[in-house]
Amino acid sequence: MAASSFLLMFLVSLILIAATVESRQATAYFPGSVAHSSQEEAAKTLKHDETPYKTQYFPQILDHFNFQPESSKVFYQKYLINSKFWHKGAPIFVYTGNEGNIEWFANNTGFMLDIAPQFHALLVFIEHRYYGESKPFGNDSYKSAKTLGYLTSQQALADFAGLIRSLKQNLSSEASPVVVFGGSYGGMLAAWFRLKYPHIAIGALASSAPILQFDVITPWSSFYDAVSQDYKDVSSSCYDVIKGSWDELFAMSTTANSLPQLSKTFKTCKIIDDLPAGTSKLIKTFAAASLYYNYSSTEKCFNIGKGSTDTHGLHGWDWQACTEMVMPMTCSNESMFPPFSFDYKRFEEDCLSTFGVKPRPHWITTEFGGSRIEQVLKRFGSNIIFSNGMQDPWSRGSVLKNISESIVALVTRAAHGLGAHHLDLRSAIKEDPEWLTMQRRQEVEIIRKWIDQYHSDISSNANSEI
Ligand SMILES: *[C@@H]1O[C@H](CO)[C@@H](O)[C@H](O)[C@H]1NC(C)=O
Ligand SMILES: *[C@@H]1O[C@H](CO)[C@@H](O)[C@H](O)[C@H]1NC(C)=O
Ligand SMILES: *[C@@H]1O[C@H](CO)[C@@H](O)[C@H](O)[C@H]1NC(C)=O
Ligand SMILES: *[C@@H]1O[C@H](CO)[C@@H](O)[C@H](O)[C@H]1NC(C)=O
Ligand SMILES: *[C@@H]1O[C@H](CO)[C@@H](O)[C@H](O)[C@H]1NC(C)=O
Ligand SMILES: *[C@@H]1O[C@H](CO)[C@@H](O)[C@H](O)[C@H]1NC(C)=O
Repeated sequence: MAASSFLLMFLVSLILIAATVESRQATAYFPGSVAHSSQEEAAKTLKHDETPYKTQYFPQILDHFNFQPESSKVFYQKYLINSKFWHKGAPIFVYTGNEGNIEWFANNTGFMLDIAPQFHALLVFIEHRYYGESKPFGNDSYKSAKTLGYLTSQQALADFAGLIRSLKQNLSSEASPVVVFGGSYGGMLAAWFRLKYPHIAIGALASSAPILQFDVITPWSSFYDAVSQDYKDVSSSCYDVIKGSWDELFAMSTTANSLPQLSKTFKTCKIIDDLPAGTSKLIKTFAAASLYYNYSSTEKCFNIGKGSTDTHGLHGWDWQACTEMVMPMTCSNESMFPPFSFDYKRFEEDCLSTFGVKPRPHWITTEFGGSRIEQVLKRFGSNIIFSNGMQDPWSRGSVLKNISESIVALVTRAAHGLGAHHLDLRSAIKEDPEWLTMQRRQEVEIIRKWIDQYHSDISSNANSEI
């Protein structure tokens, strides 16, 4: 790929980090969906050479929520399955797929594979509709609002529910307890799945799931304030450098001649503290950006040109952000980014002109709740783990307090080390810090408790579920 177009892609994503200058209304992307390294890199976080999953396709209903003739159209939804450790009646662990190719999430969720043997669990990773191979209208899926209209989180949850039921029936294992797992948007889906389908999943592990990043529940500036705090924690001069670098960056990006030079700058992969004195602000800014995007510390290079738009499905997320996933973000004066406010009118106009749809910014909180979540879920919900690392800027929109005995928040603070975006879901490695090992152990203990409870409820109740 030509250096200049690589660079342009990079700039685009940097501009996204900055919540955009020039007040274009930005879409908030999860790191899983942007700026990720090539798939080959991601695969290395798996300890196995070969993919441990078998690929299957399930005939899925296009529209679960009405009976118009076109609703019954069927598309093939991809899912991955591993039954190596499973025996009939044992638990089924399901990953509720996010905005991208399901293989990518399977490759980056080694935790489930790590714990499957001790639970004799069946592992299932379900691809989210409209991503990867699970496109209801094939290559035409993103064509217009008419084809994209079936891309909603509620349809996705219903897909998961239908698929899980069918799978259990085919395996003649209806009594197997199901636990759902997810990270980021997938974590939001896991948590919501437990709330909406408690008869299908006995519990959910929702890692880095910002279910409170909607409406006015979480302050709109919290994301970029958190990013800024991360840099301040590393060094306050780093924060000052970035705060001061924006003018230079945007001045340079407007002249075509400086593109090759910028390209060189941004391809240099260095960490901020190794930088020699006199290093330009731009290089430092790149190093800073990598703290956010390189959260796993495994990225070799930001492979933004290749695959970021299609493989990880930015088009689909843009649609979701313009319809129901409205997560307003602003930059306060305290952040290291140019101050920026959320202009809802402008956002709505952008969505109308891009997709011909009007966002429904209050729908998610209407459908799933979120306001006063502590009071609401205290008596109504159960069996959800919200895990978060405070270094992850998405954590601010997640559940960070224990809500009840069984809806718990596992929060990693800076003092414990680096708590990054759904780190707990990755494969255990030798170098894992103690807090991470402890956190995973606690998650396993909690999940085991849910399963034991489920079995004891069944044996003490003659009317066990069919
Ligand atoms: C997932 O891992 C397998 C096995 O290592 C690899 O072949 C595949 O390319 C990876 N897929 C993605 C999307 O990362
Ligand atoms: C869809 O697009 C892909 C990639 O461009 C192509 O390989 C494939 O043949 C197309 N499928 C159909 C049904 O047109
Ligand atoms: C269950 O079996 C039916 C009939 O063979 C099949 O169509 C369906 O895809 C299977 N379900 C799953 C989840 O694979
Ligand atoms: C990501 O972090 C790792 C470990 O700190 C480093 O080796 C790698 O070069 C970084 N990648 C980029 C693109 O900065
Ligand atoms: C940010 O700074 C400007 C100018 O100094 C001030 O007018 C504004 O009220 C400040 N905004 C916030 C949110 O503090
Ligand atoms: C929530 O409770 C668990 C124990 O059940 C505890 O380990 C954890 O630290 C608590 N979380 C918070 C945020 O206090």
